Amino acid sequence: RQVLVLNGPNLGRLGRREPEIYGTTTHRELAELCRGWGELVGLSVETRQTNHEGELLDWLNQAADAGTPVVLNAAAWTHYSYAIFDACAQLTAPLVEVHISDPSQRAEVFRHTSVVTPHAAKVIAGQGIDGYRQALEFIAAESGD
Ligand code: DQA
Repeated sequence: RQVLVLNGPNLGRLGRREPEIYGTTTHRELAELCRGWGELVGLSVETRQTNHEGELLDWLNQAADAGTPVVLNAAAWTHYSYAIFDACAQLTAPLVEVHISDPSQRAEVFRHTSVVTPHAAKVIAGQGIDGYRQALEFIAAESGD
């Protein structure tokens, strides 16, 4: 089964971006890890990253059309994008919300709300990069394969 891992703004700089918060794994390495983790549980995983909100909306709309499960780290858009709220509402296959850090425990109050959570079958936060593996395992279990 095909699964999309979709990463939002600034996550293209993973590994170099505030490594004390987000770790040292690069986005390229994350994509390769997700491919391997998916393979172990019978999922064909494609990982994408964008800094352009419309592009993420297009990918979410395609996932809605195709009934594709999604692992979504919408990064800062998580906290305020009603367009992403609406796009997530259209998904029919499982949606797992992932954050590398735990936004609910961070100092900036803007991180304490999520437009994704109301539509998510599961939220995984504060687990670092391993959160993506956990999300893929959840989707594999939900898909029954
Ligand atoms: C993040 C947390 C968000 O608050 C932040 O804007 C990000 C990354 C995370 O993975 O921990 O860009 O989604």
